[in-house]
Amino acid sequence: MFLAVQGPLELAAGLGHVAITREFKPTGDDSPGMVLGPDESAVTVSTDGPEIPTLGFGTARMTGGDCKRAVETALEVGYRHIDTAQMYDNEAAVGEAIADSDVDRDDVFVCTKVHPDNATRENVLASTRASLERLGVATVDLLLLHAPSDRVPLEETLGAMNDLQSEDVVDHIGVSNFGVDDLERARNLSETPIVTNQVKYHPYHHQDDLLEYCTDESVCLTAHTPLAEGAVPGDDRLEEIGKAYGKSAAQVALRWLVQQPPVVAIPKASRPKHAEANAAIFEFELTDEEMDAVGDLGGGHWSQLAARLGLR
Ligand SMILES: NC(=O)c1ccc[n+]([C@@H]2O[C@H](COP(=O)([O-])OP(=O)(O)OC[C@H]3O[C@@H](n4cnc5c(N)ncnc54)[C@H](OP(=O)(O)O)[C@@H]3O)[C@@H](O)[C@H]2O)c1
Repeated sequence: MFLAVQGPLELAAGLGHVAITREFKPTGDDSPGMVLGPDESAVTVSTDGPEIPTLGFGTARMTGGDCKRAVETALEVGYRHIDTAQMYDNEAAVGEAIADSDVDRDDVFVCTKVHPDNATRENVLASTRASLERLGVATVDLLLLHAPSDRVPLEETLGAMNDLQSEDVVDHIGVSNFGVDDLERARNLSETPIVTNQVKYHPYHHQDDLLEYCTDESVCLTAHTPLAEGAVPGDDRLEEIGKAYGKSAAQVALRWLVQQPPVVAIPKASRPKHAEANAAIFEFELTDEEMDAVGDLGGGHWSQLAARLGLR
C-alpha cells in the first residue's frame, strides 16, 4: 500500500491544465537491502487515474531463471513497477518472481504488452488472458499495445482492450512506440484514458514533440531503453555532472528522465549492482543548468523546450 508523504521534490508541470503531479511515496518497508525505501522514497506519477511508480524495472532480453532472479532482486531493493511483454517470453518468470517475493502482489505495478501480431480483437482477448495466466495474476495494472499494427484497425484493438478493462482483468491501458498523431487517434478512439505511451527516450534520443504533447495532455511518457542499451553508462560528460553528487553517468541520465514531470523510466539491469544503483536516484536533484547540459547531448533544443514546458 502506498502511503502519501510529501517530500522536498514535488514537481508539477507549469501548465494550467496539466494534472500530472509527483509526490514522494514510500514503496515498502525499511528491510535491509532496500534502496527505494521510506528514507529515500520512490516517486509516483499520477495521471488520470493510476499512480505509476516513476522508476520501473525493464525485463527485455532476460528469460527463465535469469529473469526471475533479476526481478526478485529488483523487488528486494524496492522497485514496485515491473515491465514485461508477450514478446519477451518472460511473463512466467516475472510472475514467479512476484509470487515468491515478500512483496504483496497489490503493491507491484505490473505492465505487460500485447504483441502487435495479436492486434485483432480475438487475439487481444485470448493473448491477454494467456499473459495473465503466465504471470499468475488476476489483473494487470497496465496493458499496452506494443507497437502500432499496420494490419488491424486501431479501433478494433483498443475496443478489445477496453472490453478487458470492463471485465476487470486489466486496470489501465496504453500504447507503445506511437507518434503524436497516432497517440491522439488512440486517445480519441479509446473509451478509457490512454495513460501512457512507452517510447525510446534517453539523453541521445529525444522526443520533443511527444514530450510536449504528453505534458499538455496529462499522458505519461514511459522512457524505454533509458540507458541507450548500455551506451549511457560510459558517457564522460554525464560522469562529470554526476561527480558533484557522487553519482554515475547512468544515475544522472535516469535522474534527468524522472525529473521531467510526465516521464517514467524503466531501465533493465541483469546485474544486482546495476539494479541497486539505478534505484538510488531520488536523493539528489539536477539543477536547471545540468538538466540543460544532459538534454543538449541529444543535439536538440532542450533549453527552449524545457522553458516552454515549465520544466525549469
Ligand atoms: N516498448 C518497447 O518497444 C521497448 C523497446 C525496448 C525496451 N523496452 C523496455 O525498456 C527496458 C529497458 O530497455 P533496454 O533493456 O533495451 O536497455 P537499457 O535499460 O537502456 O540498458 C540496459 C543495459 O544497461 C546496462 N546497465 C543498466 N544499469 C547500469 C548501470 N547502472 N551501470 C552500467 N550499466 C548498466 C545493463 O547491464 P546489465 O543487464 O548487465 O546489468 C544493460 O546492458 C526493457 O528491458 C524493456 O522492458 C521496451
